[in-house]
Amino acid sequence: MHEKVFNAVGSTPLVRIHFDSPAAIYAKLEYMNPGGSLKDRTALYMIEQAEKSGRLKKGYTIIDASSGNQGIAIAMVGAAKGYKVVITTTEKCSEEKLKTLKAFGAQVVVCPYVDRMDDPNSYHSVAVRMNRENPKSFMPNQYMNVENAEAHYHTSGPEIWKQTKGKITHFFAAAGTCGTVSGVGKYLKEKDKNIKVIAFDAKNSYYSTKGNPKHYKIEGMGIDFDTPVLYKEYIDEIIPVSDEDAFGAIKPIASKYGILGGLSSGAVAYGVSQYAPKMLEGSLGVMIFGDSGRAYLSKLNF
Ligand SMILES: Cc1ncc(COP(=O)(O)O)c(C=O)c1O
Repeated sequence: MHEKVFNAVGSTPLVRIHFDSPAAIYAKLEYMNPGGSLKDRTALYMIEQAEKSGRLKKGYTIIDASSGNQGIAIAMVGAAKGYKVVITTTEKCSEEKLKTLKAFGAQVVVCPYVDRMDDPNSYHSVAVRMNRENPKSFMPNQYMNVENAEAHYHTSGPEIWKQTKGKITHFFAAAGTCGTVSGVGKYLKEKDKNIKVIAFDAKNSYYSTKGNPKHYKIEGMGIDFDTPVLYKEYIDEIIPVSDEDAFGAIKPIASKYGILGGLSSGAVAYGVSQYAPKMLEGSLGVMIFGDSGRAYLSKLNF
């Protein structure tokens, strides 16, 4: 029993998916968080750190830029804690995620889709400006705040280590802000430096195109600017995945395993399917399924 919905964040299950590989690979179903994604962890952690340090006080508005899920998580935690919430997002954000934000009572500002996050019209720049103009506001700033990675260092990392009884050999996650792969990667490498940490990026992102980004359709992932949240020292490889491969991997897993992941889960599943054949017998992989395909049904042609 929980007094508040955010007390139910975390402790998500690992479920096996069989790839063409001698290794055992499990998906961590982050869509089982109460707000429906891995971002419940970062939103809750960053809000509570800000409350503890006095950066967030009663009566304040929480403002952040989000491709959708961090916004939804902030809106959920904000509703349960009694804060006003403003979320800036892009026109790429699915209709389902926009309506979820509004259902939780958030004010939503939809910004044009631009290739670079440092463009003054980007959803990130707009949120920074709104935060600067309102002295009674707090911006978690997931793209620049290392507490984003710390949230995963303190929650997802230890959970995965415990769930696999320390036997994990490979960790796979999609990278957007890079909080997940950095925080979990740091935790796991400190436990055993031989664990391989592999991130998947959108093929057309700022990072994977070496500074010449092009439009891409996957939501939630894609390293779109230089960020202190990317802890390169704990990451062995960053592998690009195309829109087509990511979208194409969702339905086969849903119809075979009953696990309907979202767009980044599709990218992770595709990336792992390509990586898994070279893993050795006895290896144990964990991959993050960040949210549910239910948030994108209007974009998926099944
Ligand atoms: C569904 C989903 N998967 C993956 C990611 C990427 O996680 P991170 O921002 O920790 O790199 C996000 C980020 O918003 C997301 O919403």
